[in-house]
Amino acid sequence: MEKDLLNIQEDTHKKLKAVKTSQELTALYLSVFGKSGRFAQTAKRIQEIPKDKKKTIGLLVNKVKQTIDDSFDKRKKELMETSIKNKIDVTIPAITPPLGHLHITTLAISEIAKIFERIGFTRVRYPEIDREWYAFESLNMPVNHPARDDFETFFIDAPPFGKLGRLVLSPHTSSGQVREMERMRGIPPIRMINIAKCYRPNWDISHTPMFHQFEGLVIDRGINVTHLKGTFEYFAREFFGPKRKIRLRPFHFQFTEPSFEVDITCDMCGGNGCRLCKEGWLELGGSGMVHPNVLAAGKIDPTLYTGYAFGWGIERTYMMKAGIQIDDLRILYANDIRFLEQF
Ligand code: PHE
Repeated sequence: MEKDLLNIQEDTHKKLKAVKTSQELTALYLSVFGKSGRFAQTAKRIQEIPKDKKKTIGLLVNKVKQTIDDSFDKRKKELMETSIKNKIDVTIPAITPPLGHLHITTLAISEIAKIFERIGFTRVRYPEIDREWYAFESLNMPVNHPARDDFETFFIDAPPFGKLGRLVLSPHTSSGQVREMERMRGIPPIRMINIAKCYRPNWDISHTPMFHQFEGLVIDRGINVTHLKGTFEYFAREFFGPKRKIRLRPFHFQFTEPSFEVDITCDMCGGNGCRLCKEGWLELGGSGMVHPNVLAAGKIDPTLYTGYAFGWGIERTYMMKAGIQIDDLRILYANDIRFLEQF
């Protein structure tokens, strides 16, 4: 039995040296110390040993077990060290986790806000859910006036607020005009830039039911069309670059008189006319001199003060910037990362 024990010890040592993985190590351990392992089987035979020799053999059994155990431990440590050495290469550049960024509309908003803040406009926000009075009546569009049809509107199913009318999802940022006059207690100068979500029930390649507008409103003594045009020229230069030109085209809005549509030269063809613009101009949006009735609704004396206003779509305006052409505007809000991550 002594011989067998020493054989096992020697054998196991040899095998341990050849072991390369922790799985192999476990398998070897079981083949020695498992229930039917070599050591276990041999150690059992102590019962057959005559009494006088039992003690010495017993001590040997323990000693052999200890020795083998120790060499298993040692090999285990060695294996761990080599595997760490192989796995960690401190010279490999770290993996940077993917980082998101702001949505293209948010980027456009902050760019536009900065341009107007530089010339003294104050950015404000007004309720997305507003009353009819702010969205229409205060803007010189009485109930049943056909001009209201131009601003298709989502109505909230709730009782009306007397003179303020029904609750609506604000269909344009112009709802903030009279709110701003109220905030200023009817005392100009007012230089507001209101950037907000707007809602209209349209869904096609150039419309999403939720979109954004930026609305400028300037009221003071002696404000006239040259201030309006100068501001647009400044904005066009800052936002679109020095080559683009703007023009005013007569139009009609209930809340401005005179009213204009503002166009900018097409970037694709440089203003010569192409598939995108047809005649060289792209439409930015509406503007005009604030109607006296609107000033009066905001408790500002129209005989003392005049003003201009404009309200343009963020998405539309951004698409007209150099290098960006989108066939279907709805992709902006489809949450397709492959599209969004390009900006
Ligand atoms: N509110 C108008 C629209 O949504 C735009 C506009 C704003 C026109 C201010 C004139 C003055 O189309």
